[in-house]
Amino acid sequence: MLFSLRTPGKPNLGHMPPLNTLTATERDGIDRKNLFLRACRGEALTRVPVWMMRQAGRYLPEYRAIRATRPFLEVCKTPDLAAEVSLQPFRILGVDAIIVFSDILIPAEAMGMHLELNDAGPNLPSPIRSAADVASLRIFDPELETKFLPETIRRIVKSVGPDVPVLGFAAAPWTLACYMVEGKTKEGFSTVKSFLYHEPETFRLLLNKIALATIAYLRAQIDAGACAVQLFDTWCGELNLEDYEDFALPAVQQVIAGISGKVPIIYYTKASNHLMSAVARSGANVLSVDWRADLAALRKALSPKIALQGNVDPAVLLGPTGKIREATQSALSALNGIGHILNLGHGIFKQTPVENARLFIEIGQQTVVGSAGKTNQPTSAAYSR
Ligand code: CP3
Repeated sequence: MLFSLRTPGKPNLGHMPPLNTLTATERDGIDRKNLFLRACRGEALTRVPVWMMRQAGRYLPEYRAIRATRPFLEVCKTPDLAAEVSLQPFRILGVDAIIVFSDILIPAEAMGMHLELNDAGPNLPSPIRSAADVASLRIFDPELETKFLPETIRRIVKSVGPDVPVLGFAAAPWTLACYMVEGKTKEGFSTVKSFLYHEPETFRLLLNKIALATIAYLRAQIDAGACAVQLFDTWCGELNLEDYEDFALPAVQQVIAGISGKVPIIYYTKASNHLMSAVARSGANVLSVDWRADLAALRKALSPKIALQGNVDPAVLLGPTGKIREATQSALSALNGIGHILNLGHGIFKQTPVENARLFIEIGQQTVVGSAGKTNQPTSAAYSR
């Protein structure tokens, strides 16, 4: 059941006092961190938390104003700027979670690769192509080599207080390996797949090294105050089930086991319908899926312990508003508030009108779902851990 809630739960952003004078809960009556963590645990809620992947980005004029004078990597590596950019969608849209502003390629540089990063995406001019290249990669100390990231998280947490969830993130090993081996995005990822098929053991060493570095990198973010972390496996859908199970899955399981129990782990997979039986064995608390996935069917198939995040098509946010309303409410009714974090199925497009992004967040926050106290009873446990 869905109906609209107009009074409580709507952040009064127009008259927002400075962030450091009142906690967010005092300001608008919602303990966002509590809400978020309950959703991660699979609890039934009457109002779900909502945020957007790539929510700090080029669709916001305030972000573009900063980027007009500062290169992308400089923003990432300057905690004051990175914290400011991370906070923009919270201030402007009232999102329920703040993801730290950074990029999944940052650890590649810390492992010793030369990295160029801008709006068009990453470029690694000396990609990994041999066993010697893999051996040269360092498992870095995140508090030294990437200290700007935990520092940014500490500043965000200090600014918003204890009741707004701040999310850390990293690439899943396979997706980072795709960029490290290809050097940039490529249709089909022929070089990385060829590496995997020709030298499976060397490729496993690469995934293992990335996994070890990622565990330390995520732990540093958690220690700095991230209350949940997301692993981005944007390119896992390029693999068939057998190769995913053989290579990508063990590496992601290794990362999740390495930080397990500390905070909830959200695992984003794109174009992964053919992989879900294996993705469900990753150990993640929350699976984040794109718009191709059927949330209601996944809910039935998964263990009740696994929550879901998603999955409105970011193209929908280009409008019209009736379609935004329909697609958002359809995602909400698919899970009826049970173990659901509302999000897009992939990052927000840079052409998205800000008022459409705001509408998406508002619909998420104003819609009452399910019925309090209802428990999560899956009809089958085909994908249970
Ligand atoms: O988009 C995804 O698939 C999510 C995973 C991912 C991120 N970066 C996370 C991220 C991927 C695949 C990247 C690589 C990357 N980095 C790309 C995509 C290129 C490709 O292969 O298709 C691009 C364009 C970059 C550079 C980059 N990263 C920019 C210009 C920005 C600023 C925001 C924007 O979209 O304009 C980012 C930020 C970024 N990348 C965040 C995350 C989680 C920041 C936090 C957030 O707001 O979500």
